[in-house]
Amino acid sequence: MFQSSRRSSSLLLSKIEGDFTCNITHPRHISLSIDDLEQGFTALSNSLPSILSQKAAITPAILSKLDKVMGPASLAEPFVRSWVSYINANYSARMKAVDRHFSPDISYATLATIPPPSSTFSSEKYDIRRATEENIEELTPLYRDFSREVWHPNHVVAVEVAVKALRQATGRKQLWFAYHNHPDQQDGSKTAAGFLLLGRETPRTIAIRNMFISPAFRRKGIAEALVRAATRFYLGAKPLGFDLQEPGSIHPKDEICLNVNDPGAKRLYIRCGFQFEGEHVDAVSKKKKWYSTATFEVEPIDKE
Ligand SMILES: CC(C)(COP(=O)(O)OP(=O)(O)OC[C@H]1O[C@@H](n2cnc3c(N)ncnc32)[C@H](O)[C@@H]1OP(=O)(O)O)[C@@H](O)C(=O)NCCC(=O)NCCS
Repeated sequence: MFQSSRRSSSLLLSKIEGDFTCNITHPRHISLSIDDLEQGFTALSNSLPSILSQKAAITPAILSKLDKVMGPASLAEPFVRSWVSYINANYSARMKAVDRHFSPDISYATLATIPPPSSTFSSEKYDIRRATEENIEELTPLYRDFSREVWHPNHVVAVEVAVKALRQATGRKQLWFAYHNHPDQQDGSKTAAGFLLLGRETPRTIAIRNMFISPAFRRKGIAEALVRAATRFYLGAKPLGFDLQEPGSIHPKDEICLNVNDPGAKRLYIRCGFQFEGEHVDAVSKKKKWYSTATFEVEPIDKE
C-alpha cells in the first residue's frame, strides 16, 4: 500500500495479493484540487520504483509490475499517465498507458439498505453454507467453469489453480456456496449449485469479489439467496434469515462493497440492497452511493 498525503488530503494506491488490479482511491470526505492531485501523483510515482525494486534491480519488467490500475476515472487515468511519463523519463523505458474499457460501477450495502429476510429465500429451498476444506473438491468444477465463463472464454484454470484459490478463500472463511434443495431429490444427495467469494477484508468492510451459479441452476433465485445470506451475516443483521450450519459470529462490518460490470448481476445486487440507483449522493450521510470506475494498463510500447 502506498500513500501520498498532503495537508489533510491523501491518495491511496493499494494492491491486494490475488487481486488483478491496483486500486487508487482517496477518502470519501475530501475533494482534491488539481494542485493536490499533481503533487500527490508525483510523490506516488517517485516512491514506487524504490518500493517495487526492493528485491531486484530496477528493470522494465519490475516497473511494469504495476500493470493495471482501477479507480475513479478522475484518479486512475492521470495517475497512470503520470507513472508512465515518470518511468519513461527516468529509466529510458518505453511504456504506455492503455485504457482497458473495463469500467465497473462500485457500490456498497449497509444494515440500513439491505432488505428484510423473506420467505421466498427460506432454508427450505436454499441450503446456504460457508465452505470449509471439506467442500473444496465439490466446488472445484464450479470454480473452473466460472474461470472459463467470466475470465477466459477459451481457457479454464487448472485444477491446482482452482484448488489453491478455494483453499485460500476457505482458510479466510470468505467462501459461501449453495445447495439447491429440490423436492424430487429423495436420496439425500446434493449438488453444489454455485458460490460467492468475498475478499478485500478490513475491520469495517468486506467485498464481494466473485459470484457464479451453474447454468443448470440459474434463474431460481440462488444467487440472490446467497448474496442476501452473506450480507446479513457480515453486517450482523438480526434475524439472520437462514440457517447457518456452522456456529460462530464475527464482529459486524459497516459496509459490504463490490464492483460490478454485468447488468444482470447489477439488477440482482440492487434487489439485495446495493445502491446503484437514484440520487448519486446519500441525502443524510452525503456519501457517494456509487461511482463508475476506469481501468488502465501499463505495458511496454514494443509489445505492439
Ligand atoms: C449472475 C448469476 C450469478 C445470477 O445467478 P442466478 O442464480 O441465476 O440469479 P437469480 O436467480 O437470483 O436471479 C437471476 C434472474 O432470475 C430471476 N428469477 C429468480 N428466481 C426465479 C424463479 N423462481 N423463476 C423465474 N425467474 C426467477 C430473477 O428475478 C432474475 O431476473 P433478472 O435477470 O431479470 O433480474 C449467474 O447468471 C452467473 O453465474 N453468471 C455468470 C457469472 C457472472 O456473471 N457473475 C457475476 C460477475 S462475477
